[in-house]
Amino acid sequence: MSATLTRGRLTVDVRLTPDQLKATLRRDVQGGLTATPKTIPPTWFYDDRGCELYEQITRLPEYYPFRTERALLRRSAGQIAEAAGASVLVELGSGNSEKTRELLSAMQHATGGLDGYVAFDVAEGTLRTAAQAVVDEFDIEVHAVVGDFRRHLSAVPAGGRARLIAFLGSTIGNFAPAERAEFLGEVGALLAPDDRFLLATDLVKPADRLVAAYDDAAGVTAAFNRNVLDVLNRELDGDFAPERFTHVAVWDPDNSWIEMRLRSDAATTVTLRRLGLAVRFADGEEVRTEVSAKFTPAQVASELAAAGMQAVGLWTDPAGDYLLTLA
Ligand code: SAH
Ligand code: TRP
Repeated sequence: MSATLTRGRLTVDVRLTPDQLKATLRRDVQGGLTATPKTIPPTWFYDDRGCELYEQITRLPEYYPFRTERALLRRSAGQIAEAAGASVLVELGSGNSEKTRELLSAMQHATGGLDGYVAFDVAEGTLRTAAQAVVDEFDIEVHAVVGDFRRHLSAVPAGGRARLIAFLGSTIGNFAPAERAEFLGEVGALLAPDDRFLLATDLVKPADRLVAAYDDAAGVTAAFNRNVLDVLNRELDGDFAPERFTHVAVWDPDNSWIEMRLRSDAATTVTLRRLGLAVRFADGEEVRTEVSAKFTPAQVASELAAAGMQAVGLWTDPAGDYLLTLA
């Protein structure tokens, strides 16, 4: 094939239009803020500002998961690509696709070669920019899917070629346990016999390091956490005063997760006019915004098995902080 014919192309599939996104947000927030205790699902962190703050988090000295995962991918991507034997990379929650480049270039050099990349994310702006950058850099077909991976996994194109489905960033840890099992079951059901699943998980370690990673000295994670209130104010015509909410990150050893909360500094009533909802906060009351579960390798293998997948390759960093599992 000539160079002009193999030039990269981008297609975008919007499964979640801005209107549908808003409807989902309304449902999530209505349910979460009328529950006890109050919760806001983590999907809503990632507007453009949230994606930018997440990118800043990935560069913080305390936030070891990102650079550990990137170093691990840099070292192991060649082995992973050979073991997976896939020519299409599908990535769920791809964000800015920064670390993905390690996998893409390894696949390009692997026996099977690289035919395409499917990037799937709820954050449309970040996704479009990232997908275009991959087209320009790798000269391959890129298919961007704007969707909610809790609902639109069927939008992942099949197409006969062996796929590697990657879920990086330890985003799996952000599901509640029941949702996590459901999600893994859906991924398992999506896999054809030649497809493989690559799952990144942060591992259990001493609480002080874990807490520091989610409560950095510069306050970037605090700003990221509070940003969700700005999202609610903007999208739901709300009157949260984000500065009156304190960022809280605690390690919960029973559930083996870091829990992120926003604590109201005073008794207050917040109105979300687009929901016709008034939400009463007691002084010191907390909203749970995020969990980030930490795993053991055995637990990952058993959760994959429960979803009908078998771990066939494991990669960890020298310190044993982080795990990549191929299933
Ligand atoms: N994979 C990247 C980004 C991780 S941050 C990395 O490893 O650095 C989590 C990503 O998942 C964000 O880009 C966010 O927009 C996306 N995301 C969160 N909830 C989602 C959902 N329900 N459906 C699709 N994408 C989601
Ligand atoms: N998936 C990442 C994690 O759990 C996302 C993340 C990093 C995050 N820092 C955060 C989510 C702070 C919410 C709050 O590590």
